[in-house]
Amino acid sequence: MIVLGLESSCDETGVALYETGRGLLAHRVHSQIDLHAAYGGVVPELASRDHVRRLPALIRQVMADAGLGLNSLEAIAYTAGPGLAGALLVAAGTAEAMAAALGVPALPIHHLEGHLLSPLLAADAPAFPFVALLVSGGHTQLMRVDGVGRYQLLGESVDDAAGEAFDKTAKVMGLPYPGGPALAQLADQGRAGRFSLPRPMLHSGDLNFSFSGLKTAVMTVLRGEGAAPADLAAEFQAAVVDVLTHKAKLALKQTGLKRLVVAGGVGANQALRARLDEMTARRGWRVYYPEPALCTDNGAMIAFAGAMRLAAGAAGHAGGAVTVRPRW
Ligand code: KG4
Ligand code: ZN
Repeated sequence: MIVLGLESSCDETGVALYETGRGLLAHRVHSQIDLHAAYGGVVPELASRDHVRRLPALIRQVMADAGLGLNSLEAIAYTAGPGLAGALLVAAGTAEAMAAALGVPALPIHHLEGHLLSPLLAADAPAFPFVALLVSGGHTQLMRVDGVGRYQLLGESVDDAAGEAFDKTAKVMGLPYPGGPALAQLADQGRAGRFSLPRPMLHSGDLNFSFSGLKTAVMTVLRGEGAAPADLAAEFQAAVVDVLTHKAKLALKQTGLKRLVVAGGVGANQALRARLDEMTARRGWRVYYPEPALCTDNGAMIAFAGAMRLAAGAAGHAGGAVTVRPRW
């Protein structure tokens, strides 16, 4: 099956072609970072308009990259949620229209399922079952994954997501948008331990997280003694990494599984990767990451999730009504 995948849930327009048995044929992402930078965050209306501007050209480019015509498409997968309603509607409307015109099934995909399955696109892919640590701007979750569509939530953040904590903390520290990568870069130049920040819920015994207090703790340090920004960033990053690593270890112990899969934008964080590598290697477990280019939002993970859903028996539907699920 040749599946076209479209992603427009937030500030990246992603398009990809995946063929069952062959793998990724082509993929392109257009990031709106420059568009939103002046506002210090994503402006939903501007995001939607830019997706409208970019998506048709990206689709043409990806088809050309793969040397294929539209009539070779056998299904169209798109992110149906969660995300910004207006932004989601761009890929959804395009996908449903294309599916109707071409007479192929349309497949609404959950954005997090895309992230969750993205490590399976790597040459060295994990086998089921595994524990997934999903760390994006909107979610922080630990899941047990037994197969496509067979997901059990083990724990999640009770407030801010890990990526959200990176972004908000970067903002109070005066770092440029997008905050997460900027904060991580600064942290790598500093030393953790010079200031003491909490490790929220580290010993709560369950697999839940809480990150909103960390931003407040950083603000308190900034107001009080002040701090060398790099050292404060390093301590913040260490706090997030400590908690994520500890809970991932706990999830592997509780499930008895030996494979950990990391997905979502924060999975690009090098300090987190180093700690997870060390934690798993010491116990003879293994950790898998998506390719760096597929850590943040992209169409490849959506095309792939669509192909996996089809292979698992999903029928999709004939293109028609356009509905999205912003809070799915
Ligand atoms: O998965 P993603 O691209 O979008 C969502 O679905 O949310 O994740 C974006 C999040 C943002 O919060 C961003 O700041 C964070 O991932 N992020 C990072 C790094 N790269 C991206 N956080 C920490 N360190 C990084 N290197
Ligand atoms: Zn995402």
